[in-house]
Amino acid sequence: MLPSLRRELAVDFVIANGENAAGGIGINPEKAEELFALGVDVITTGNHVWKKREVLPYLERQPRLLRPANYPPGAPGRGSGIFEVGDAKRIAILNLEGRVFMKPLESPFKVAEECVSLLKEETSLIIVDFHAEATSEKMALGWFLDGEVSAVIGTHTHVQTSDERILPGGTAYITDAGMTGPINSVIGMKKEIAIRGFLSQLPNRFEVAGGEVELQGVYLELDEGTGRALKIQRIKRRQEVGHGQRI
Ligand SMILES: [Fe+2]
Repeated sequence: MLPSLRRELAVDFVIANGENAAGGIGINPEKAEELFALGVDVITTGNHVWKKREVLPYLERQPRLLRPANYPPGAPGRGSGIFEVGDAKRIAILNLEGRVFMKPLESPFKVAEECVSLLKEETSLIIVDFHAEATSEKMALGWFLDGEVSAVIGTHTHVQTSDERILPGGTAYITDAGMTGPINSVIGMKKEIAIRGFLSQLPNRFEVAGGEVELQGVYLELDEGTGRALKIQRIKRRQEVGHGQRI
């Protein structure tokens, strides 16, 4: 669905969080290359980025695959990058991970402040993927960075929220961009297995669900001079597997 969506919206740059692109958990070099070939410019990740061992050397050599910036020093890969858009523009992408109900990493607020001040010297267009569980932590980071970055886009919960807006300082914000994957599922996994897990409270081996898939995300328009967001719009497109039919 991505190549036609790119054309339809005349998109300049595509960012996808791909942390679970490899069979529902983690990402590997093959899946990352597949996403790049489909028209993704930069892949962000999150807490599951480390699941596939073969991605570790790839993270070191592929600047277009990011991991959250607030891991301890020495973690493989990088948490931000500056990329060319067309001939004259440059855009910075910063990936951060939350700490509420997640690992006790370095403060995403402190790391955001440090990274944004450096990135701002290079470009006014800065997009943050804040991969976090708690809506409160995500909203707080949105307000913290309002006027400092072009957009704070939440990921990780797999459930798209309807709170997209442009904050007063010009930063586009949404608590969660949602999931691209099977919709008759529990956040992408087979619902029967997920339900059994909740009933039994025993460890479970999750499997990716099949059937209809949905592409979810947001479309942004940014002012390249000021870096302010002009528009944020939710995207939700459904495709029935086997029919190629868009609803
Ligand atoms: Fe995650």
